[in-house]
Amino acid sequence: MTPHGDDLDRLMAVMQAGFDPAYGEAWNRRQVEDALLLGQCSYGLAAAHGGEPAPGEAAAGFYLSRHGYEEAELLLIAVDPAQRGKGIGGALLTRFAAEARERGAQRLLLEMRRGNPAETLYRRFGFEQIGQRPNYYRTPDGSRIDAVTFACICP
Ligand SMILES: CC(C)(COP(=O)(O)OP(=O)(O)OC[C@H]1O[C@@H](n2cnc3c(N)ncnc32)[C@H](O)[C@@H]1OP(=O)(O)O)[C@@H](O)C(=O)NCCC(=O)NCCS
Repeated sequence: MTPHGDDLDRLMAVMQAGFDPAYGEAWNRRQVEDALLLGQCSYGLAAAHGGEPAPGEAAAGFYLSRHGYEEAELLLIAVDPAQRGKGIGGALLTRFAAEARERGAQRLLLEMRRGNPAETLYRRFGFEQIGQRPNYYRTPDGSRIDAVTFACICP
């Protein structure tokens, strides 16, 4: 998927503000560009009102996803810290699910580091834990954190 206009700049602004550097989860611009070159990856931006931003309007959040045969994976989701707790993350999940359904997905998947408070949001949406990978992530300080895999029937 080729990003429109300045979408990549707006996505990267949220990426840089939205992820705690302690966990090393943020992707750099090249990683996002490379993912979007693959036909299966796509993204969505949200403005502060939760809907798509108008041209030139700042993004308050984004998701990045990968679409496979009957499954779609949420690769990343982030909301600017100043805009959290207003439903933007939930709106982005709903948009991701709608896009996945349009592409024929039966199931949604995601993986997160154990302890991420985003788990509450995911569970509220309908995701349930289906697996874990002990010590899967290595943080910049060298410590290890489990990865937890969640799945949800595509609503
Ligand atoms: C996860 C995230 C996208 C949620 O965005 P959001 O716009 O705040 O989401 P919503 O307003 O729709 O829902 C908020 C709910 O998510 C949960 N939540 C998610 N992250 C939270 C956090 N850092 N602190 C507290 N609650 C959090 C809470 O249950 C909250 O519900 P509440 O407002 O009723 O307490 C945002 O916290 C974020 O960008 N986190 C950092 C990036 C990240 O870890 N992404 C997930 C892994 S890729």
